[in-house]
Amino acid sequence: MTVRAVTISGEGPAGKLTTTAVNLPQPDSGEVLIDVVSSGVNRADLLQRTGLYPPPKGAPEWPGLEISGMVRRLGAGVSSRRVGDRVVALLEGGGYADQVVVRETQTLPVPDGVGLVEAAALPEAACTAWTNLVDTGRLRRGETLLVQGGSGGVGSLAVQLGAALGARVVATAGGPERAARCRELGAGVVVDHRSEDVVAAVRQATDGRGADIVLDVLGGGGLQDNVRLLAPGGRLVVIGLQQGRTGELDLARLMAKRATVTGTTLRSRTAQEKAEIVAAVGRHVWPMVADGRLRPVVHARVPLDEAQTAHDLLESGEVFGKVLLVP
Ligand SMILES: NC(=O)c1ccc[n+]([C@@H]2O[C@H](COP(=O)([O-])OP(=O)(O)OC[C@H]3O[C@@H](n4cnc5c(N)ncnc54)[C@H](OP(=O)(O)O)[C@@H]3O)[C@@H](O)[C@H]2O)c1
Repeated sequence: MTVRAVTISGEGPAGKLTTTAVNLPQPDSGEVLIDVVSSGVNRADLLQRTGLYPPPKGAPEWPGLEISGMVRRLGAGVSSRRVGDRVVALLEGGGYADQVVVRETQTLPVPDGVGLVEAAALPEAACTAWTNLVDTGRLRRGETLLVQGGSGGVGSLAVQLGAALGARVVATAGGPERAARCRELGAGVVVDHRSEDVVAAVRQATDGRGADIVLDVLGGGGLQDNVRLLAPGGRLVVIGLQQGRTGELDLARLMAKRATVTGTTLRSRTAQEKAEIVAAVGRHVWPMVADGRLRPVVHARVPLDEAQTAHDLLESGEVFGKVLLVP
């Protein structure tokens, strides 16, 4: 079947987004076909557009890691969804389109209290924040969580989730307005990384102890400071490489603190792992959305045909939260 999608034309850094017709397979066993109402834009899509983050084998070539929409058709054996259900989905790609096909285990009902369009801001950020704070980071009530980039698509969700899980949340953001918005989301302390010394400010805010968990989007360039900022027994969880993939690690400092450095990606995980994360988000995070402790943070809605504008917007560094594409 033919659907409208935003595909990448041009090679490497010259990659541009254009709307074209593409072929989409019918839903296979265990899969659903969804009419897309809204599609979340992620930094990974920008990397994919410039050739730096190719889609995994078997995934559609066109970008898009999350959508919201209505179930149009069911593959054989689908038991958890019905035609007409309002759902969100976590994808390996292909979300920048009128329709997507995805395993039912990577879908969830739109949580109560959230509109169908804005719900597309949730799957990638909620799954990433949940699995990294809880599964990997083992965040416990009363601990201190530092979110590097609390103003981002993932960060704005992680700040809220950390607070809802009973952590004391410290966040970084670029500029006073973005810092104020992180405070509104539940960060007790926000450090403006453009004007403040982050290490000194976080140490001061934690009486010199540091953070039990650092959720990091900086990568190599932030490694030394992030390790400095860990409390004894602290866990640094790297999810982004905005400042490069390599950095120097002071092992003596790590040993003295009995600290851990780890990293994860969501897209490369097996279908089984994704199903488990999505199910856990449905069980634990969706009730927090329904009772208002957590909400999608949407910066702008852009027509699907203007996806390039959405990428330019995200690249400008002015986005707080998420940009959505609306077919
Ligand atoms: N591993 C995974 O599974 C996974 C999943 C989703 C996303 N990611 C990655 O996570 C990262 C964030 O994704 P996103 O969608 O949230 O991107 P985003 O919305 O573009 O956010 C980027 C964030 O980085 C912050 N930042 C930039 N420079 C900084 C600095 N020097 N110090 C502190 N913060 C800084 C920005 O803060 P200001 O703009 O306020 O300066 C902003 O909050 C990306 O690298 C993405 O690829 C990984």
